[in-house]
Amino acid sequence: MATEPATRDEQILTFPPGFLWGVATSSHQYEGGNTNNQWYAWEQAGHIKSGDTCGLACDWWNAAERDFDAAQRMGLNALRLSLEWSRIEPRPGEWDARALERYRAMLRALRDRNIAPMVTLHHFTNPLWFEERGAFLASDAIERFERYTAHAVEALGDLCDFWCTINEPNIYSIVGYQIGDFPPGRKGAVAATVRVQAAMARAHAAAYTAIHRLQPAARVGWAQNINTFDPARPNSRLDWRIATLIDSAFNDFFPRAVRTGSARFPFSLAAGDLRAVKDTCDFVGINLYYRDLIHFDLRSATQLFGRREVAPGAPRSDQPVTGTWGEVYPAGIVRVAERVAPLGKPIYVTENGVADATDRLRPWQIAQAVKALHAALARGLDVRGYYHWSLVDNFEWAEGWATRFGLIALDPATQERTPRRSAEFYSAIAHANALTPAMLRAYAPTALAEIFPDSPAAVAPETH
Ligand code: BGC
Repeated sequence: MATEPATRDEQILTFPPGFLWGVATSSHQYEGGNTNNQWYAWEQAGHIKSGDTCGLACDWWNAAERDFDAAQRMGLNALRLSLEWSRIEPRPGEWDARALERYRAMLRALRDRNIAPMVTLHHFTNPLWFEERGAFLASDAIERFERYTAHAVEALGDLCDFWCTINEPNIYSIVGYQIGDFPPGRKGAVAATVRVQAAMARAHAAAYTAIHRLQPAARVGWAQNINTFDPARPNSRLDWRIATLIDSAFNDFFPRAVRTGSARFPFSLAAGDLRAVKDTCDFVGINLYYRDLIHFDLRSATQLFGRREVAPGAPRSDQPVTGTWGEVYPAGIVRVAERVAPLGKPIYVTENGVADATDRLRPWQIAQAVKALHAALARGLDVRGYYHWSLVDNFEWAEGWATRFGLIALDPATQERTPRRSAEFYSAIAHANALTPAMLRAYAPTALAEIFPDSPAAVAPETH
């Protein structure tokens, strides 16, 4: 649906020329047929909570180009995808030229459509052989990761110069070694969690140096998941303390290692030498989804004495099979960008989105994210792009197909795609490089009054 053009006296949120409007994806969640990594083994062992199988996923190994066409029609100029290490190096030191050829074709297809690729080297999946040796806890893990990185960059470097080394090292290590929902499924292994994250920081640094050796002008960064933790009772000192402690344990290890080459006590006891990690990024990627309110509670010892809560009436996404996800919090983009600004590098929102099968909340979420991006730029923060998670419904790790993050709905059995209205809305924003009141009237009326209070037909925002 085309939106009416904004009238001259209407306010518009415009973005700088060249701002990136993209989508984020990952190999295991999109390609299908990945049977040589630890997530496939995890699925085979019955750990996907919905009981689903990844199967063909979005069938990108055969037909990614169909979705690249959709991204082009939507007016997107950027797409983040990841390489599947287990395809490229199926056995230690053995390289699969055909897999690399397929990635070359995908990168070419993106460039032909004027979509700039950002390539992630590690998005949660390990080749089985790497996992079996202890993954990032193995003594030669960093060397192995560096070697794979160099091989990938040698093969693909003429088609891409924008590299994200590692996706969400905090989620990978905390959910895999402390919570147990991701492989290897360890629970409460606090020291191992720190050691894994520290090893990933060293692997990132080694990859950063290797990429620059091969491609001096490359832009290399990583994607950090940052969850916002606020005190449940703003006047409670204990809530503040615990919220700060949880925040530092969850969000801060990696950014701090890159900023200072060190870890904070007590993490420093297990982290080992991080000096080589200092100053190893040309940009910082932030992935953000939720806010949790933290209530001091002596009964929550396993959660550092902080009980997670969500404010009554706060917007909530579709929920995971077990457990809960917090408040959907796109406004957090401003706070999170401010927080990583001391790294002194360009900032990209490398993931932000919502699980919402019926698209009841997503248009509001996109509108709020765009408002926050605009506010961040107005504050002088160097935000260069936004990658919505995600283009198409995809295999959501331990949740399987139970939660739907796509701008485009997918029936994994038939591979049939049905764009949600959010796809049209996001497309209008990308085409215009702006957000107008007319777009909100058409797609997200509940956000209109808040974003353009003076606009005619602004309606009071609903609670979700
Ligand atoms: C991950 C994605 C995931 C998304 C939605 C991020 O933590 O990087 O792979 O699908 O969140 O849960």
